[in-house]
Amino acid sequence: MAYYEKWEKIYKEYSVGVLPWELGKPRPVLVNLIEGQKIIPEGKALDLCCGLGTNTIYLSKAGFQTTAIDISETAVKHSKERSLEADANIHFITCNSVYLPFKDEVFNFVFDMGCFHHILPNDRQRFVLGIRRVLKERGHYFMVCFSDKNGTAWNHFSKESIVAIFSPYFGISDIHHFSSVEGDGYIRSFYATLLVNE
Ligand SMILES: C[S@@+](CC[C@H](N)C(=O)[O-])C[C@H]1O[C@@H](n2cnc3c(N)ncnc32)[C@H](O)[C@@H]1O
Repeated sequence: MAYYEKWEKIYKEYSVGVLPWELGKPRPVLVNLIEGQKIIPEGKALDLCCGLGTNTIYLSKAGFQTTAIDISETAVKHSKERSLEADANIHFITCNSVYLPFKDEVFNFVFDMGCFHHILPNDRQRFVLGIRRVLKERGHYFMVCFSDKNGTAWNHFSKESIVAIFSPYFGISDIHHFSSVEGDGYIRSFYATLLVNE
């Protein structure tokens, strides 16, 4: 657990205005999936690591019955406050996404912007199995993680490594690479992967 405790420290130390991943608007890659491609039916959505809640609020406003979790209590507190300001009805829980506290087959859609790539390799299988367990049959899991085009690191993934980790458990509907100017002005590279619980 100690590895994951760093997140609470980060949210306590840094002001919400300087978090590098916070764009101040919903992630375009999510908006494009929901509004552009229109392949995700409405229903129950889970945001696996809500951060300040910007994407979570978007999902709620887009018509999903939304639950959001984050391992940082402070992040969840900020998200709750922001959801109240936005008049969005969201169920928030502080917990570790490796140990999902939900019944089987609850969600139609699981959204993960930047959670999977922070999961320790030893926890990955439990994490992936947990998501499959809480997804309904034919439910979708949209996972955005760091790509190896950022350079080599334990949590930067190639297309092949994503396929190797997820294909035993999910159908892979799409994997595409993109780069984004992040909240801190740096350009970072990601893979967006759409997985289906078949
Ligand atoms: C890069 S931030 C992304 C936040 C948000 N998804 C966004 O796009 O703005 C990663 C988030 O994952 C959360 N996190 C990291 N490990 C986690 C875990 N094991 N379970 C739940 N949340 C986790 C962190 O607290 C942080 O809010």
